[in-house]
Amino acid sequence: MIAPHPLPLNPAQRDAVEHPGGALLVLAGAGSGKTRVLTARIAHLITKLGVAPQRIFAVTFTNKAAGEMRSRIAQLLGGDPRGLWIGTFHSLSARLLRREAPLLGFGPNFTIYDADDSEALVKRLLEARQLSTKVYPPRTVHAVVGATGRHAAREGRRRDLRRARPRAQAGQRDGLR
Ligand SMILES: Nc1ncnc2c1ncn2[C@@H]1O[C@H](COP(=O)(O)OP(=O)(O)OP(=O)(O)O)[C@@H](O)[C@H]1O
Ligand SMILES: [Mg+2]
Repeated sequence: MIAPHPLPLNPAQRDAVEHPGGALLVLAGAGSGKTRVLTARIAHLITKLGVAPQRIFAVTFTNKAAGEMRSRIAQLLGGDPRGLWIGTFHSLSARLLRREAPLLGFGPNFTIYDADDSEALVKRLLEARQLSTKVYPPRTVHAVVGATGRHAAREGRRRDLRRARPRAQAGQRDGLR
């Protein structure tokens, strides 16, 4: 294994890397060393503060940036940080959904449909039921299905809130006793 190689940091970078906690915004120009701060901070959290890599979530705009960050962190740590969440918003979200899918009764091998895939599926379902796609345009049916789903989700949240509220009130009463 290659020995970890700590990167040189200027004082502002060091402050950001060793910031003791809470939210921190790093605002700096192009090529000024932001990625170095992020990678050094992740390495610092893992090696100095003992944070488990799987508790770190690093989101980038592009897969290229994520790959670059992962390899820079690997270089710093002297090995790939297994379990580190590093990727684009889309790839990390997909990974999270796959991991938690069983909670919703799905297997981990589901496919995520985009708007075109969904409309094509609605069209196939209409045709299978011999319903005219002229009378029921797939795009409209898909929009109605989406709106119904969102409405149901909102109702579900309201129901959960109604259920939670009496508990909270009971808790307050207990506190007074
Ligand atoms: N303190 C430093 N001392 C020497 N070199 C540094 C230092 N900080 C960063 N660099 C080097 O400067 C270059 C740019 O750094 P980095 O990629 O971290 O910048 P960035 O702000 O993320 O750039 P971009 O805006 O392109 O994303 C890299 O080659 C990096 O190794
Ligand atoms: Mg960068």
